[in-house]
Amino acid sequence: MKKVLVATEKPFAQEAVNGIKSVIEKAGYELVLLEKYTSKDALLSAVSDVDAMIIRSDVADKEVLNAGKNLKIVVRAGAGFDNIDLAAATEKNIVAMNTPGQNSNAVAELAIGMMIYQMRMHFSGKSGGELRGKKLGLHAYGNVGRYVANIAKGFGMEVYAFDPFVPKDIIEKDGIKAVDKVEDLYSTCQFVSLHIPANEQTKKSINYNLLSRMPKGAMLVNTARKEVIDETSLLKLFAERKDFTYVADVEPESKDEFNEKFQGRFFFTPKKMGAQTEEANINAGIAAANQIVNFFEKGDVKFKVN
Ligand code: 3PG
Repeated sequence: MKKVLVATEKPFAQEAVNGIKSVIEKAGYELVLLEKYTSKDALLSAVSDVDAMIIRSDVADKEVLNAGKNLKIVVRAGAGFDNIDLAAATEKNIVAMNTPGQNSNAVAELAIGMMIYQMRMHFSGKSGGELRGKKLGLHAYGNVGRYVANIAKGFGMEVYAFDPFVPKDIIEKDGIKAVDKVEDLYSTCQFVSLHIPANEQTKKSINYNLLSRMPKGAMLVNTARKEVIDETSLLKLFAERKDFTYVADVEPESKDEFNEKFQGRFFFTPKKMGAQTEEANINAGIAAANQIVNFFEKGDVKFKVN
């Protein structure tokens, strides 16, 4: 009987676990659950005899993949797969997949929610500002970017997007202004929301050259990864411009410096929570379980990323 491990340091909602269990058991497989683990050893031991593994932001590095002696497939229930060592997976003939789009609405709602929270002075009672009529730039127009665009249009924002991988006419069909150069997105938009993955090309790519172009009252919104930000640039800009604000779904490395010097001009979630909704967990978790069954039963590798 095939064994499928769900290894989630940050567990799925119970409904999602029930849904995953039912998909796995219907296929005649066994579900093994490792939630809220506190040591890598627990993961290394749990993965040792399973055929498949579902993870969230849990790190599947070379050591973990090597420990999975029977492991054939790892599915990251979510979008970003920067937590999987793809080269090591390929070397071991393990298929790596993600579940694109399944948790995007949750992340998009958080991006807009944090924008409002910051604009309304952390709901402190102090006078703030509104989103209506303001320009929002989406740095990448993938699944999350599209949901953010839709919500922002409902708020009466003017939406721009830069994405070299999406044809301009596709972006413009959605009523979004496509921008040719990334620099122009930052010079045009008071709000910029990041939807790029973290990889060798994008790490520290959000730098002084881009951020310093942003108009007065600038707000950077990061529901992507902290690694894409050049924090030295961001701190320099914060020191130079009192009007600059930053909201992010995960604390930056330099959170102590932000706390010390820039109170009121930032908001960071204490733990990554963009995809932390029951709906997103159900969508991504069950999609991951189905992808595993389809892989074993039909050889389906549609969402393979390595
Ligand atoms: C993603 O890449 O899908 C999100 O960052 C969600 O990550 P999480 O599953 O760890 O909440």
